[in-house]
Amino acid sequence: MMTLRGKHSTVFVKEGVARKVFHPEFRFNFWKEARFLAALQPFHFVPRLYAIIPEKLIVEMEFVEGETIGEIIRTGDADEIKFTALRTAEICRTLDMLGIQKEEMNHPDKHVIVSWSGESTKWSPECVNVKLIDFERSKESGKPSNLTQFIVYLLRKRIVVNRKDEIISLLKSYKATYSEEVYRKIINLLMESFK
Ligand SMILES: Nc1ncnc2c1ncn2[C@@H]1O[C@H](COP(=O)(O)OP(=O)(O)OP(=O)(O)O)[C@@H](O)[C@H]1O
Ligand SMILES: [Mg+2]
Repeated sequence: MMTLRGKHSTVFVKEGVARKVFHPEFRFNFWKEARFLAALQPFHFVPRLYAIIPEKLIVEMEFVEGETIGEIIRTGDADEIKFTALRTAEICRTLDMLGIQKEEMNHPDKHVIVSWSGESTKWSPECVNVKLIDFERSKESGKPSNLTQFIVYLLRKRIVVNRKDEIISLLKSYKATYSEEVYRKIINLLMESFK
């Protein structure tokens, strides 16, 4: 058994299951984690939910194997970083469309977990598998900023280095419209802006 300590919970890991036990003072965070993980089960970018035990403030879920995005950025090669960033941006767009503000996408180092299917030596956009963990601060929002926050993170980490001003101005119109057209432009520009 492995024990991981968060600020709001202790996570016990055993046989592929992560049992997140919230501290009593964070019972509202427990409900948010349970609620948003349940709502997002139709999507593949969150851990499978196994059990919610309110009287013990426990959320039991799949333990997601892989490297964190923080590690990928520190040690990955250019393609690994690029495919991870693009897939994560796509997930952020989905959350924006659902009106779910995950929070903390401006510092997601430990909460985006990446693995690869297929040949491990040959990264491709199709074989990257990205999952987001930790929804205890999520909320519904009419103005979600998951994508914006995540791109600001990429800029800060100097993953995205070219045409920064254009990206920032597109992010402003994205925030006003959330239009598919602006989103597409952002993704196309991102693809040309990596280090
Ligand atoms: N489903 C999971 N799969 C893989 N690792 C997990 C999972 N849930 C938690 N972890 C690990 O346990 C750590 C703590 O979990 P989490 O961040 O959810 O706790 P927290 O109490 O919300 O922490 P914080 O206060 O830092 O946000 C994570 O950084 C991660 O390493
Ligand atoms: Mg947390």
